[in-house]
Amino acid sequence: MRTHFCGELNKSDLNSQVKLCGWVNRRRDHGGVIFLDVRDKKGIAQIVINPDTANTFKLAETIRNEFVLQITGQVVARANEMVNSKIPTGEIEVLASHIEILNSSKPIPFQLDSMETSEEVRLKYRYLDLRREEMQKRLRLRSKVTHFMRDFMDSNDFLDIETPFLTKATPEGARDYLVPSRTHEGNFFALPQSPQLFKQLLMMSGFERYYQIVKCFRDEDLRADRQPEFTQLDVETSFMNEDEITSLMEEMIRGLFKEVGNIDLPSKFPTISYKKAINLYGVDRPDMRIPLHMVDVNDIMKDVEFKVFSGPANNKNGRVAALKVEGGASISRKQIDDYTKYVSIYGAKGLAYIKLNEDGPSSPIIKFLGDDVTQKVIDLTEAKTGDIIFFGADKSKVVNEALGNLREKLAHDLNLYNKEWAPIWVLDFPMFEVSDDGSLNAIHHPFTAPSVDSKTLIDNPEDSLSRAYDLVINGSEVGGGSIRIHQSDMQKTVLTLLGIDDEEAKEKFGFLLDALDYGCPPHGGIAFGLDRLVMTLSQTESIRDVIAFPKTQTAACLLTDAPSSVSKAQLKDLNIKVTLPTRV
Ligand code: AMO
Ligand code: AMP
Repeated sequence: MRTHFCGELNKSDLNSQVKLCGWVNRRRDHGGVIFLDVRDKKGIAQIVINPDTANTFKLAETIRNEFVLQITGQVVARANEMVNSKIPTGEIEVLASHIEILNSSKPIPFQLDSMETSEEVRLKYRYLDLRREEMQKRLRLRSKVTHFMRDFMDSNDFLDIETPFLTKATPEGARDYLVPSRTHEGNFFALPQSPQLFKQLLMMSGFERYYQIVKCFRDEDLRADRQPEFTQLDVETSFMNEDEITSLMEEMIRGLFKEVGNIDLPSKFPTISYKKAINLYGVDRPDMRIPLHMVDVNDIMKDVEFKVFSGPANNKNGRVAALKVEGGASISRKQIDDYTKYVSIYGAKGLAYIKLNEDGPSSPIIKFLGDDVTQKVIDLTEAKTGDIIFFGADKSKVVNEALGNLREKLAHDLNLYNKEWAPIWVLDFPMFEVSDDGSLNAIHHPFTAPSVDSKTLIDNPEDSLSRAYDLVINGSEVGGGSIRIHQSDMQKTVLTLLGIDDEEAKEKFGFLLDALDYGCPPHGGIAFGLDRLVMTLSQTESIRDVIAFPKTQTAACLLTDAPSSVSKAQLKDLNIKVTLPTRV
């Protein structure tokens, strides 16, 4: 239907007869001459319709934005004063001899070039939203990313193998999406939270190197970087240790950033232990572009009369930490109040601070701390005139989350980034986290190998580390993996520590425990969040911007209105009765 793409026409096509297809981006009637900006996937060309082509001109008068046209015409040079250097096709235009309206369009509910439109409207009319250049660019980038990944994995001898969606629950820590079975009354499939167990079984099946670009389903609280269904580049290998796996994956990420974004990542990514990340940055996904870190001031706060500080300083689960911001003395009272509100989201009961003004330190808390302690804080944080020091004092978890997130907010608000790209591997995660009731939960998943033997693990589970690794880029956890347990004794030990007894283990993961007994190779792997990687690469702040048809924060699809009710007949087939709370 076309000889050329609108967006690719240039001076080398002058005088050519062309046929173009596309959408009307804009129509301008310049008293006697009609101009149409026609858009296809490659860009925009200007079409001119003169009144001397009477029929075509008449037709052009009826054309509106987003009509779909086929245009026949000749490429001509624009008059000098009409040249538009902002677009690649700005030196030429197409003099139309014939136009065919392939389809008309109702007036669209929002202007494609307007950023004012609410996200709700954009999601409801996603097919229109996706016509915007920005969205087209992001999805093209996403396609380039998956293309690169497939090439890389293929050339490194990884096999692309599909795993089932209708399956049993995989414990990645979220709620499952369930699918009722019609043929097995009262039973349910769970959609996979990841292909974790299947990829391990593929190692036990002798494939040695597996990958898949695959959907995962997790019913969890959504955030700007989380979707209920998202995509992973999922990888598993046999006979490789953590150094070998992380170096190979690092090579892929470096190649990917260079290829699709012309971005040079460091030739060896730095590493940090989980403990150090939490101590310095409060989170296990540190944004290393930000030159701010927390400093422990527990020791010097133990004897101060300010109970808010001395309480946590003397409590083994407490922490008092300082966060110095260079040049921060100019932060206003009102801004500090806003930051105090911000940290309260994370449970902080206040946000004490000391400003280092020209005439000395000033703060509502100096009178409680005394000059000596104040000076010690200044020394420990290496603060100078013009700086501000913020404090968190509470349970360690609250302080870490509050100051860790404040660090990122300050960097965002005050533009404190000192580099553009900062990848880092986070290593030495603990095996378990301890809940308030004393029970243990896996920090990664229950198939992650510990870095200690089973006796040490059983004697001291809280302090045992795992062989897991996460890749963080610019503060976003873009991937995570581990060396797995490949011996059934160790697997049973870990499940027991997690409070899963033999019977439950057999019921939930019997197939895996069985397979471990038939010559299971040492193996490990990783999964990258594809959506998060593309989000990081395209420097957008919402994961929805890089997914063609995403869900809202409440896990709904505004385009199709899913989830929705189903017919009585369907429910009957499935033997399901829906009982809703009676509305009052
Ligand atoms: P994990 O649960 O860490 O590991 O997931 C791997 C990566 O997937 C991305 N991710 C998400 N992206 C968008 N929305 C979500 N709801 C979401 N949840 C996770 C993150 C994360 O780093 N089976 C293991 C991997 C392994 O051990 O090999 C797993 O799924 O970028
Ligand atoms: P108050 O004595 O409650 O007026 O608090 C004095 C200062 O300490 C104020 O700046 C509070 O924001 C701050 N503050 C109170 N509780 C905490 C806390 N748990 N951590 C850090 N700062 C706090």
